[in-house]
Amino acid sequence: MSKSLDAMKEVLSEVIKIATPSEKEVEIARRAENLLRERLDALSVDYVFVGSYARNTWLRDNLEIDVFVFFQKELKKKELELGILELGNKVLDEIELRYAEHPYVHGKVAGVEVDLVPCYKVESAEKIISAVDRTPFHHEWLKDRVKGKENEIRILKQFLKANKIYGAEYKVRGFSGYLCELLIVFYESFLDCIREATSWTRRTVIDVKRKEVRRGDCFFVVDPVDENRNVAANLSIENLAKFVHLSRMFLRNPSIDFFVPKQRKTDPKDLIHAIKQRGTKILAIEFKKPKIVEDNLYPQLERAARKLFEALEREGFEPMRFTFFAGENCYLIFETAIKEISRITKKIGPIFEDEENVEKFLAKERAFEPFIENGRWWAFEFRKHTKPEDVVVDYIKERSNALGKNVGEKLLEGFRILEEEELLKPELIEKISEFLGVKV
Ligand code: UTP
Ligand code: MN
Ligand code: MN
Ligand code: MN
Repeated sequence: MSKSLDAMKEVLSEVIKIATPSEKEVEIARRAENLLRERLDALSVDYVFVGSYARNTWLRDNLEIDVFVFFQKELKKKELELGILELGNKVLDEIELRYAEHPYVHGKVAGVEVDLVPCYKVESAEKIISAVDRTPFHHEWLKDRVKGKENEIRILKQFLKANKIYGAEYKVRGFSGYLCELLIVFYESFLDCIREATSWTRRTVIDVKRKEVRRGDCFFVVDPVDENRNVAANLSIENLAKFVHLSRMFLRNPSIDFFVPKQRKTDPKDLIHAIKQRGTKILAIEFKKPKIVEDNLYPQLERAARKLFEALEREGFEPMRFTFFAGENCYLIFETAIKEISRITKKIGPIFEDEENVEKFLAKERAFEPFIENGRWWAFEFRKHTKPEDVVVDYIKERSNALGKNVGEKLLEGFRILEEEELLKPELIEKISEFLGVKV
């Protein structure tokens, strides 16, 4: 065995230690499982344990039991919602109704988090009514195939989690637990997976069931239970690229650091210095968080930020990047190359030969005389906005309905543009520091 492979194996055995649940955690989990099964059986409920708990692939200190409850196909969605709520009340503590693509119940049993999800009982994965109906088929397909590979799955999940790309929810747009398990079934080990990942492209298609990799239109992991479904549909191209890069870096220089979440700690002085040094305008818009689920909020935040970015671009402020996030409040953040622009702009007119349009162009009332340059007419006109913040203020006032339903409404109710020391407030400083690429 080469020296570097030795070092690699040593790192991975360290990772297994931090990613595997303790005996105590497993014991607590088994107790909750048994209690929950007793309660469900007493009510003759048709159910299945799925997800990472059922397959023994959950990460240490991330225990949550997923139980799917079968309902007859004839029932309406509303009846499923009421049915699962009623059942949740009987078998779980501290229940709350949550919504993903459809409603489910979250609660606790013996102190352990439980997701109780209603689904339709269908004969095959092709006949699903709601997307969640696939999950019991996923479990059927995976349960024996992951046996003996649990450690490899946990290593991959830990690698992704430490680098903030674990989870398919909109806020993350990374790798789901199911995707991790499929990748390990396909490549057999974490090392083989990341070795192959170094040559993945945005057109790589991984067909798990047919055991082949080919080229297609986009990065696509074919669901073995439904060949039309892309298991990586929610993975953003940025996070795909990040994973490929991290795989290359780890193979070049294996270290446990790749598996430990990095804590940024920016010195406020460094951030202030960075902003001065860059000579750009940092615009952070703060507003109240609408009371909607994150999977609905994040797409709206992205839309709002993109719309404002495009407005800044149209008006000549040369925005460079944007970002957004929700903490206590919501934030839309921009950096523009232009802090302030002239009141006057040079407006293009018709070529001199075009008599009709020249006449129209010159007929307009203006403060300064038009002029000819390179065979066409030009004129000086006043801009509406000379500062990027003016663009934002007017856009929100006039077109808030284009900024996402709930986000647009909240912005119209009120917002603040944060300046100077306000950018250093605790919930913002690391976001801005990362956004600007400040080295820590
Ligand atoms: P989880 O998000 O709990 O993932 O969904 P997981 O594989 O157990 O991984 P971790 O360890 O918790 O992070 C469990 C299964 O339930 C489905 C998911 O697609 C997954 O297969 N699911 C969950 C839904 O289909 N809809 C939901 O609302 C929730
Ligand atoms: Mn789970
Ligand atoms: Mn989860
Ligand atoms: Mn879950």
